[in-house]
Amino acid sequence: MIGLKRGLVKGARISALGVHVPERVLTNDDIAQFLDTSDEWITTRTGIRERRIARVDEAASDLAVAAAERCLAASDIEACDLDLVIVTTISPDHLMPATASIVADRLGARRAGAFDVQAGCTGFVYGLAIATAFVAASIYEHVLVLGAEVLSKMVDWEDRGTCVLFGDGAGAVLVQPTDNGSIFSFDLGNDGSGAQYLSVPAGGSRLPATYATVRDHDHAMHMVGSEVFKFATRTVTESCEKVLDDAGLTVEDVDLFVPHQANIRIIESAARRLGFTDGQVFSNLDRYGNTSCASIPLCLHEASENGRLKKGDMLLMAGFGAGLTWGSCLTKWEL
Ligand SMILES: CC(C)(COP(=O)(O)OP(=O)(O)OC[C@H]1O[C@@H](n2cnc3c(N)ncnc32)[C@H](O)[C@@H]1OP(=O)(O)O)[C@@H](O)C(=O)NCCC(=O)NCCS
Repeated sequence: MIGLKRGLVKGARISALGVHVPERVLTNDDIAQFLDTSDEWITTRTGIRERRIARVDEAASDLAVAAAERCLAASDIEACDLDLVIVTTISPDHLMPATASIVADRLGARRAGAFDVQAGCTGFVYGLAIATAFVAASIYEHVLVLGAEVLSKMVDWEDRGTCVLFGDGAGAVLVQPTDNGSIFSFDLGNDGSGAQYLSVPAGGSRLPATYATVRDHDHAMHMVGSEVFKFATRTVTESCEKVLDDAGLTVEDVDLFVPHQANIRIIESAARRLGFTDGQVFSNLDRYGNTSCASIPLCLHEASENGRLKKGDMLLMAGFGAGLTWGSCLTKWEL
């Protein structure tokens, strides 16, 4: 049933999880070999020590398929049972077709609909909300939500202000029905007046590809870091307060807070404002950097593997990113 209260959804759960990251590790020292930066600067300003980098021949769908196969192997269904495949990404294989179409085909999800969600680094939370709504409304039973990114191909490796922040990876969750009363509380937000602070200016209909756009690196990510920083700390806090309030819970009720992994200073600032203790907050940013739509599922997998996230725990996830968008999701962990 949908519509208990705005943003509150009953009758769906995350029932399986799988992740995949490329093998190659690129450390801060490695970057300092070809760029005017240092491990000390990157670690102090961001908390990132290293990130994974995809092979030249690897695209978002390749990482997504590997994550999806692990997720399905951990589930009670086969790819052919899937009703819907949603890929959330800001580094799709192509502008068209959707990466989800390619992923669904390679998985053998023959009867599934497939589409991409583009909501910046908040994509995974948006995708989860869509999947949950479909399942809770009894429209579909088995919805696969992926966050898959090859951001190493979307950054300008001569721009030290952006390229040091991002990494590659993928995560997949299966959303299925439940009758045990599990509740999702969502808050999705957007402020398009900040669109210019985080964008890939060229390659779309506003600024199609020309020799000049290639020369000027306009097909790579452009960012005004300080503006994004201010926006992120404010919206994460407000959005988390809203989902907790909607569910009638407080910060004390949350066992684990998994924010989008963009910068450790953003995470610490939001956690402090919300009143979380260190033990309630999860981060693996030091080893993966900002993997955009993949960052939350990568955290969920690691937290679940090492016992930080246990069956029955109350989980709070929060994302923010290009758009500017933000989104939070509160749910009971049932794996
Ligand atoms: C990008 C970010 C780390 C920059 O940190 P900051 O403390 O704001 O640093 P500033 O941008 O003020 O830059 C300070 C100086 O460091 C320099 N600098 C930037 N990147 C550098 C790097 N990788 N290595 C060394 N110096 C660097 C700048 O050129 C600047 O030098 P200047 O003072 O001589 O002009 C920070 O703004 C941030 O994390 N913003 C959020 C970005 C984000 O999360 N984006 C994704 C959202 S999904």
